[in-house]
Amino acid sequence: MKKLVLIGYMGAGKSTVGQALSERMQVSFRDTDCWIEEKQGRCISDIFAEDGEDYFRKLETDCLKELLEQKENGVISAGGGLPLREENQELLRKMAYTVYLQVSKETVLERLKGDSSRPLLQVADRETRIAEMIQVRHPIYLEAADTAVEVDGREVEEIVKEILDLFLNGGFGKK
Ligand code: S3P
Repeated sequence: MKKLVLIGYMGAGKSTVGQALSERMQVSFRDTDCWIEEKQGRCISDIFAEDGEDYFRKLETDCLKELLEQKENGVISAGGGLPLREENQELLRKMAYTVYLQVSKETVLERLKGDSSRPLLQVADRETRIAEMIQVRHPIYLEAADTAVEVDGREVEEIVKEILDLFLNGGFGKK
């Protein structure tokens, strides 16, 4: 393996699971949202407000390319919308082993209660927004991923173990 990328909807636990996984595997951990915020010197909400979503999506592609090209083994947590771009899907297929963390609307609502850092969820009817987005994105996530793992009601350690078991069974060796 070189790069293991976690994808999935906001609140799926990509960063938490990714961090734990990287520690267990003793490889580096990177988060595309953090990378972008560091490079830009501003938070994602400000990037969306000042330059728009399309601009942010271009930054995500730049980020993904740069992280995937780094030589060492590593785990990457990808922003929830990153797999939507065809170009990014291509990069993931070619250069990473991609795991989709599958989460329900109910879990997202609960986990992101009071969160104001996700611009796409700053709407009056958050529940409907999340339901609609998951419905549209779920098949895209499935298509972009090599494997999918359910996260609802599960501890981080259990999810990490499932991914590690897949790894030990040779699933990661193919790229
Ligand atoms: C987004 C997910 C966010 C962040 C941005 C847009 C999305 O990342 O990239 O707010 O379109 O799903 P997380 O999935 O890490 O919350």
